[in-house]
Amino acid sequence: MSVFTRVFLHAPRSGVASVKKGFNLRLIIAFAALTLVLTGIVIVTWEQVLRPYYYGWVERKYPGPENVENRWKLEQRGEHFFISMTVDLIVVSILLAMVDRNQRRLMEANEQLAHSEKVATLGRVAAQVAHEVRNPLAGLLLYSEHLKGKLDGKLPNGDAQLIDKIIDTINNLTATTEQILNYARPVTLAPRRVDLNTVAQDVIQLLSTDITAHRIEMDLKLNSSPVIGMLDEPSIRAATLNLVLNAVQAMSTGGRLTIATGSDGNKLWMKIEDTGSGMSAEQVKQLFEPFNTTKSRGLGLGMPYAQKVIHQHGGRITVDSKPGKGTQVAIELPARIATQDRSHQ
Ligand SMILES: Nc1ncnc2c1ncn2[C@@H]1O[C@H](COP(=O)(O)OP(=O)(O)OP(=O)(O)O)[C@@H](O)[C@H]1O
Ligand SMILES: [Mg+2]
Repeated sequence: MSVFTRVFLHAPRSGVASVKKGFNLRLIIAFAALTLVLTGIVIVTWEQVLRPYYYGWVERKYPGPENVENRWKLEQRGEHFFISMTVDLIVVSILLAMVDRNQRRLMEANEQLAHSEKVATLGRVAAQVAHEVRNPLAGLLLYSEHLKGKLDGKLPNGDAQLIDKIIDTINNLTATTEQILNYARPVTLAPRRVDLNTVAQDVIQLLSTDITAHRIEMDLKLNSSPVIGMLDEPSIRAATLNLVLNAVQAMSTGGRLTIATGSDGNKLWMKIEDTGSGMSAEQVKQLFEPFNTTKSRGLGLGMPYAQKVIHQHGGRITVDSKPGKGTQVAIELPARIATQDRSHQ
């Protein structure tokens, strides 16, 4: 990456690069300033150094009144040469800017492609591992429960608790493998009438214990009439659950959770806002990457899963967050999924 690119383009420091479309205002200003400075240098050099020297040379070469016309022609040529040099300079600097910009965009696109391939491979490997351990885990659970039944009442209390711990661990591992597989497998959309108000209320109901435990104040701003669309209910519910759960987990020491719904023409929307820990711009940039988590027991699949579901519905998800202030997640869904099959995207 050239120094120029690093200074004048918003070159990302790390993480996924975003390809910028159109001209960059800072770049235009920088080039205009650079061209002005260079043109100024050329003019001053011509006026102060080259022109007196050149005119002197013409005067010596064609002296006397009989050479007035020759001298005038040569002086004109000198001026034309100077003007064309200035124009060339401007054109070359514009061309250089364009080449540099295109090179930068190509590099960003390559970086993004390599990154996406890495993430996709990681997802495939994780799904493969999850798939491989799922059946043995089911077997282990069966054996442990069988053993527990057989030894019920025959073991000292401490040993019986050990078997319960084994069963709990197996259940946790099974839940983790299910989450990974759930993320990896394609979502097949089966649209039916869904009310986003009901989805929001059910999710809050499901998380009521966590909401109370975190001392979270609820602010429900649901649309006065049902927000109905033809959507795939299970995946929309799961996506909403992930988003609300993240908001709850971000407010470990209390806060306010606002959920608003509404419709706008043929679009439905839901906003989930918390006053929790918030995220830096860098964190928001990596938010939808699988396995990106800051939680000790998190998998980093909640946000990518929600995004996948919403995109498959043909909708949008946007995140606005400020560290220490909170986060707002807005989802927008079409009231009716487009007829094309999105299940394999
Ligand atoms: N509302 C939020 N406020 C602050 N940070 C958030 C919020 N939502 C997501 N994050 C950050 O984004 C990360 C990724 O979220 P994501 O839901 O994908 O995974 P996770 O919650 O860590 O694990 P899980 O797979 O169990 O959902 C989180 O670890 C957290 O750091
Ligand atoms: Mg989560």
